[in-house]
Amino acid sequence: MNIHFGADYYPEHWPEERWETDARLMQEMGLQVVRMAEFSWHKLEPEDGRFDFTWLDRAIALLGKYGIKTVIGTPSAAPPAWMIAAHPEILPTDREGRTRGFGGRHHDCQSNEVYRAYVRRMVTEEAEHYRDDPNVIGWQIDNELGNSHGDLCHCESCRRAFGKWLQKKYGSVDALNRAWGTAFWSQEYNSFDEIPTPRITVCGENPSQMLDWNCFHSDLILDFASMQAEILRRICPGKFITHNFMGFSELVDYYDLAERLDFVSHDQYPCLPDEFSPSRSEAGAAAALDVVRSFKERSYWIMEQQSGITGWQTMSRAPEPGQLSAWTMQSIAHGADCVVFFRWRVYRYGTEQYWHGILPHSGTPGRRYEELRDCIKSAGPLMDRMQGAVPRAQAGILYSFRQNYAITIQPQHPQLSYTGQLQAWHRALYGQNIPVDFVQGGTVHGDLPHADFSRYRLLIAPLQYLMTPAMEELFTAYVKNGGTLVLTMRTGVKDENNVCMTDRELPGRLSEAAGLEVRDYDCLRGTDVKVTFEGKAYTAVKWADLITPSEDTEVLAEYAGGWYAGTPCITSHRFGKGTCVYVGTEPGPELMEALTAKLCAEAGILPLAKSDRGVELMQKENASGSWLFAINFTGETKHFEVPAGRTMILGSAADTLGPYETQIFEG
Ligand code: GAL
Repeated sequence: MNIHFGADYYPEHWPEERWETDARLMQEMGLQVVRMAEFSWHKLEPEDGRFDFTWLDRAIALLGKYGIKTVIGTPSAAPPAWMIAAHPEILPTDREGRTRGFGGRHHDCQSNEVYRAYVRRMVTEEAEHYRDDPNVIGWQIDNELGNSHGDLCHCESCRRAFGKWLQKKYGSVDALNRAWGTAFWSQEYNSFDEIPTPRITVCGENPSQMLDWNCFHSDLILDFASMQAEILRRICPGKFITHNFMGFSELVDYYDLAERLDFVSHDQYPCLPDEFSPSRSEAGAAAALDVVRSFKERSYWIMEQQSGITGWQTMSRAPEPGQLSAWTMQSIAHGADCVVFFRWRVYRYGTEQYWHGILPHSGTPGRRYEELRDCIKSAGPLMDRMQGAVPRAQAGILYSFRQNYAITIQPQHPQLSYTGQLQAWHRALYGQNIPVDFVQGGTVHGDLPHADFSRYRLLIAPLQYLMTPAMEELFTAYVKNGGTLVLTMRTGVKDENNVCMTDRELPGRLSEAAGLEVRDYDCLRGTDVKVTFEGKAYTAVKWADLITPSEDTEVLAEYAGGWYAGTPCITSHRFGKGTCVYVGTEPGPELMEALTAKLCAEAGILPLAKSDRGVELMQKENASGSWLFAINFTGETKHFEVPAGRTMILGSAADTLGPYETQIFEG
C-alpha cells in the first residue's frame, strides 16, 4: 500500500483540543499523510539549544492513530527571532546593500557559517529524535529553496564564498580576467579578493560575471540542501528525502538538486493572483508538471496542491465546482504518485490569512472538503496500480538552467524569456494532445546533458545561446542518427563564458547540420512581422533572423513584410539520417501549432486522440499497464475521441465529459 493523498498541516496554529477532530476529518476524507513543521523552528527550539519536540510527537502520534503518516519539513526557511537577535549577520543583504529584516521568512544567508551550524544542529536533533518513529516516513528539506531569495545575498560572507568559488573555477585571476573580458571599462582584477558580488552599479554589469554569479548562487543553495540531506541520510537511512520544487523557478539548478533526493516534489498552484503570476492556464500547469517530472526522470509527489482561493494581500478567483478535482487529476496524469493539498485549514493570523485550504476559517467542512473527498474516493482505488507511472513522450524540449541565466541577463528583446519560449513550444504540442518531456540540456556548469536524446524522435532546442564544441557535436550526431532537431534564433551566439564568438557566422559549427548561415538579424521592438508558411499568413514576434540557406535546404516559411520580405525564416535540412529545422523567429501561437503539427507528423509522432479545446488527454504507463486520462477543464460539456482498445475505469459516458469531469481508460 502506497501513500497517495495528504494535506499540509500546521497543528501549532490550532488549539490541541482540535487536533483529534482534524485527524478524524482527514481520515474520513481519505488522507494518508501530512507534511508538518517546515516553519516551526521556534516551537522546536524555543531558546538556543533547548529543544522541545513534545508537541510534534503528540501530533504525529495522534495522526498515526488515524492511519495518517508524517513527512517532516526541516525548518531552515524560518530561523527564529532569538537567533537573529544574537547573530544579526545571518540576515541577508540585497543588491543595494540593504539588510533585509526579520518578519517574513527565508531571512537568512545560506553561506553564513553561524547559520549553517544552527541548521546542522537542528537537523541532527530532529533526525535522531524521529529516526525510529514508524509514523514519520520521510523528510522535506527546507521549503521552496530559492523562493524569495531573488537577488540575495550580497553580504561579506557571500562575497568571500563567491571569490573561493571563482578561484576553484579559474585557478588564477588572470584566467578569470581573460574569461570575463575585464579589459572592457578597466575592470581587471589583481586578486580574487577584489571581486565583488554583483551589487547595484552606477551603470551596467559584466554578463560573464553575472553568469558566474547565477551559477555560484545555484551551487550555494545546492550545498545548503546537500548539507541537510547528508545528515538525514546518515541518521535516518530508512526514510525518504524530498524537497518541494517550484516548476520553472530558476534560482537553483533543479537537475542538480534532484540528484540529492529520493524523489522530487512540487508545489502546484494553477490559479494565483496576478502579482504572483499573471498568466496561468491549464497548459502552463501541464508544463510545470512536465518540467518537474524531468528533474529526476521519474514520478513525483505534489507537496502543495492548490485547494482553494490563493493570495496574500489580494485574492485569486475561487476555483469553480469541480476545478480542484480537475487540477488534482492533471497532477496525477502527468506522473504524481501522491498529492498533498495546501493546506488543511486557512489560518486566522499572519501573511497567508487568505490563502485558503481544504477547510475554511471556521473549520467546518464545506464545498472544497466534499469535492476533494469525492475525488480521492474515485481516484484512490486506482492509485496503487498506477504507482510510478509516467507519460512516455516521443517529443522533447531541451531545458538548461545555464542558457536560462544567460538569456535572463541579456534578453536582447525585452520580452524574450527563455522559460517563456520553452513553454510556448510546450503549449503548441499540449494543445494537440501530444505528450512532451522536458529534457536536461546540459548542467549549470556547462557540462554535457546527462539525458539520452535518442529516446526522442523530435527534439526542440530553443535558444541554444551558449555553445560549446561538445554540444555542437552532440546535436550534429543526434541529427545524423535520424533525429529531428529544432534549433532557433540566437543559437551559437556565445561561448560557455557568455562571451560573443567571432570565428563564425551564426549558428557556428551547427551551420552544416542546419544547412544555413545567419548573417543578419532584426530585433522586433514594438512590432511583429508577417510570415508565410504553407501558403498562409501568420504572425511572428520578437526576433527575425535573415537566413541564407544552402542549396539543399528547404525553405518552410519566409518573411512577408518589411525590407526583408521574401527572406527565409524557417528552414528544414536533411542531414545524415535526420532533419535539422531552424526557426529564426518566435512563431505566434497559430504558427507554432501549425509548425509543430507538421514536424510531429513527419517525425511519426501521433496525437493521443482528438478532443475539443479545453480537454486535456494524457497517457501514463508503468510496467503493469497504461492509462489514458481525459480531463475537461471547462464548465461546459465537451467531447473527445476514445482511442480503440481502451476500457473505461473511471467515468460514465465515454467520449462525453461533463463540466470539469475526468475519465480514465486502461489498456
Ligand atoms: C508556497 C509555500 C507555502 C505557502 C504557499 C502559499 O509557495 O511553500 O509555504 O507559503 O506558497 O503562499
